[in-house]
Amino acid sequence: MKPDMKRAIFPGSFDPLTMGHLDIIERSTSLFDELVIAVLNNPDKNPMFSPEERCEMIEEVLADFNSGDCRLVVESFSGLLVNYVKSKNATSIIRGIRAVSDYEYERRMALMNKRLAPEIETVFLMASEEYSYVSSRLLKQVFLLDGRVDGLVPKLIVDRLRSKNGG
Ligand code: PNS
Repeated sequence: MKPDMKRAIFPGSFDPLTMGHLDIIERSTSLFDELVIAVLNNPDKNPMFSPEERCEMIEEVLADFNSGDCRLVVESFSGLLVNYVKSKNATSIIRGIRAVSDYEYERRMALMNKRLAPEIETVFLMASEEYSYVSSRLLKQVFLLDGRVDGLVPKLIVDRLRSKNGG
C-alpha cells in the first residue's frame, strides 16, 4: 500500500446487502482509494446467509459496479472491529445513518471504537432518503411473509433469497 493511500472499512452484517448499503458503498468510493466491505462472521445472530455466501453475493453485485479509482475488496471478519481495521492498516470506519433511531447505537459504537483505537475515525454517511427505511432485517421479514422486495435489494439478491427459501 502506498503511504498516502486511504483505505476505509465498511463493516456490517450484510445479511443480505441492500440498495441502502450499495448507496453507501458508491458514495464512499469518491472519498477513499480502497474500500473493504467487511462482513461480520456472526453465527450468534443466526444469519440467513453464511459469511461465505454474503461475501460471494456482494462480490457478484460489485462485479458490474463502476467504482472509479477506488479499489473494492470484500472480506469476512470476526472479533473486535478495531483490531481488524488495524490489521488492514485502514484509517477509517464507514457507517451509514438512516434515521435518528440509528444515531444512538452508532454513537455508542463510534465512541467505544474511538476509546479502543483513537487513531481510527468513524465516518458517517447519511443514507439517501429513498432507502432510509430499508434494513436487512425488515427486508427479510417482508420477503418471508411473501411481500415484494424488488428494488430494495439488487436483483441477484432477490434470486438468492428465493433459492434459499425454497423457490
Ligand atoms: O450491520 P450491523 O449488524 O449493524 O453491523 C454491526 C457491526 C458489524 C459494525 C458491529 O456489530 C461490530 O463492529 N461487530 C464486531 C465486534 C465489535 O467490534 N464490537 C464492538 C463494537 S463497539
